[in-house]
Amino acid sequence: MKGLKVVTIGGGSSYTPELMEGFIKRYDEFPLAELWLVDIEEGKEKLRIVSELAQRMVEKAGLDIKIYATLDRREALKGADFVTTQIRVGRLPARILDERIPLSHGEIGQETNGAGGMFKGLRTIPVILDIVKDVEELCPNAWIVNFANPAGMITEAVLNYTNFKKFIGLCNVPVGIHRGIAKDLNEDIKDVDVTFAGLNHMVYALDVEVKGKRLDLKDVAEMTLKSEVVKNVKSIPFELEFLTSLNALPCPYHRYYYKREDMLKSELEEFAEGKTRGEVVSALEESLFELYKDPTLDIKPPQLEKRGGAHYSDAACNLISSIYNDKRDIQVVDTRNIGAIADFDYDDAVEVSCIITKNGPKPVTIGKLPIGTKGLVTQIKCFEKLVASAAITGDYNKLIQAMTVNPLNSSDVKAKIIIDELLLAHKQYLPAFAEKIAELEGK
Ligand code: G6P
Repeated sequence: MKGLKVVTIGGGSSYTPELMEGFIKRYDEFPLAELWLVDIEEGKEKLRIVSELAQRMVEKAGLDIKIYATLDRREALKGADFVTTQIRVGRLPARILDERIPLSHGEIGQETNGAGGMFKGLRTIPVILDIVKDVEELCPNAWIVNFANPAGMITEAVLNYTNFKKFIGLCNVPVGIHRGIAKDLNEDIKDVDVTFAGLNHMVYALDVEVKGKRLDLKDVAEMTLKSEVVKNVKSIPFELEFLTSLNALPCPYHRYYYKREDMLKSELEEFAEGKTRGEVVSALEESLFELYKDPTLDIKPPQLEKRGGAHYSDAACNLISSIYNDKRDIQVVDTRNIGAIADFDYDDAVEVSCIITKNGPKPVTIGKLPIGTKGLVTQIKCFEKLVASAAITGDYNKLIQAMTVNPLNSSDVKAKIIIDELLLAHKQYLPAFAEKIAELEGK
């Protein structure tokens, strides 16, 4: 078997030990020869710490995997088989602004939903499109597996504004729900099949089968009511009557929509205490990097599971290995709809159960979504499309439309105030909006 080359952009991320662990566990089926961790100048120190930890993990496992750390993305990409992207443009200070600015106006402040998600998308899409260009030139046969958020919006932009086809978005939420259902049912996860459909951070479980026997979703709903799926979204339980009426199980992020008042109240309390998720994660990251520095540490520390992205490695490495081995197993990814979900257009990026082949994900046919879910998901799809287009064109009108189409926004007045404030706050990462920003600055 030929050794494989994987390049991870944003390699200095605190999540990298997750990935490393995933590759080590799957070495027999995925012969990784080189892992290139790429970061930017500002992430240099983190990159050094993380790559040294990755090196120790490989040595402990006794495997012949070479770890490279570099700031030269183009050099790293040459001849790659797989590229993973896990970038945060503007790093955690930008996330904190995405959370605090909407909250200062009494609106939900979240990194992938509402105004925060919109600005994370505006900052990230142009950078991902640049990476895609480099991949097309330097390793055109590689697959890009993207974990950077907002994953749905980014997939939408790449699939509809580039000619690059080998791009897959990935999230740990479906894996987390799947694990949670198996645990609550006290079953081995291998015996539990869950069919998912919707959008990223807006995905529903539509069907649950145990050993081939279909369960009544109402029973599953009752059992899973209190389960925590991700650490970063407060687990305020849904109403059982709501869940049983829906004929679909929502994901944790749906709480921002179905439980907006409660979520906003809780976020406003965190805001007042200086403890928005970005602020909490900043402290968590500092302690994680202190741990990573320890020269005797040679495993993924359990403390990493306090992060919302826990178990990413399973999602990411399973996906990569299934493509490489043409496994044809079912996994949930963000990809082109191609008719799988009848409520979306052919080219829309959707999050859906797919058969994973060497030619990429083939979505399973879902048909129409339950009527009670359709309004919200199609509204969010419009939001995603408007933001993806604005990120590329710098069209301010599209920002206003996007914000006012989003159900987390409460008025056209607030939409404009929050957009303008976020444009100014993130101006160094939004060159497409330079003209509008200059106007706002009165220049
Ligand atoms: C969840 C989401 C990810 C997100 C993460 C944030 O797992 O699925 O998309 O990046 O949470 O976690 P954090 O610990 O940074 O708040």
